[in-house]
Amino acid sequence: MKKNSHKLENEVKNVKILITYHSDTGNTEKVGKAMKEALDEEGQDVTAIHAKDVDASSLKSYDLVVIGSSILGSQLGKHAKALLTKVELPPKIAFFYTCQQDRAYPKAFGRAAKKIEKEGTSKVMGEFHCIGDALGMEGALKEKMLGSMNPEQRKEAEQHFEDIKGRPNAEDLAKAKEFAKSLIK
Ligand SMILES: Cc1cc2nc3c(=O)[nH]c(=O)nc-3n(C[C@H](O)[C@H](O)[C@H](O)COP(=O)(O)O)c2cc1C
Repeated sequence: MKKNSHKLENEVKNVKILITYHSDTGNTEKVGKAMKEALDEEGQDVTAIHAKDVDASSLKSYDLVVIGSSILGSQLGKHAKALLTKVELPPKIAFFYTCQQDRAYPKAFGRAAKKIEKEGTSKVMGEFHCIGDALGMEGALKEKMLGSMNPEQRKEAEQHFEDIKGRPNAEDLAKAKEFAKSLIK
């Protein structure tokens, strides 16, 4: 009897989780995969997959969906956006993003979060973000950005691009794992 109730407790704790992300150069994917690793370690049933490969109509079949994106021109990537538009959402939802600037983009998922909370159909569990190396900005895009700056600004920006090389780093990924674990506590 005691054995059975213990088993039932474990079954209730095991939730079905989807981690899905728009990621062009792999930074956001790295964060999503670290989150999966953390939740796997907790014995959860976790799928981590690029948002372009997700069937939007399947989202409602999970207990928790964690949607991630890179920030592109201050906005979410199109595949993350698509999952927040006219899609039936699961009971629990959380967000994450990576961006090259050392600042938050509260509006990126903020609008969707507000709408979800207002509708009251899903609970927004939280948001995580960290810096991601500007891998996709090499070449013309970076030059265009730097070209519009005065020499002092340019020096600072070039230093910043150096400083964020390799991000997300081990520390960022450890924080992402902690965030993921907090979602099931
Ligand atoms: C076209 C383009 C636009 C970007 N716009 C921004 C931006 O507005 N703000 C920012 O902080 N980072 C910006 N970034 C940097 C990315 O958000 C950052 O490198 C991110 O970690 C990339 O994630 P991914 O590898 O998962 O695609 C931009 C990158 C590209 C390629």
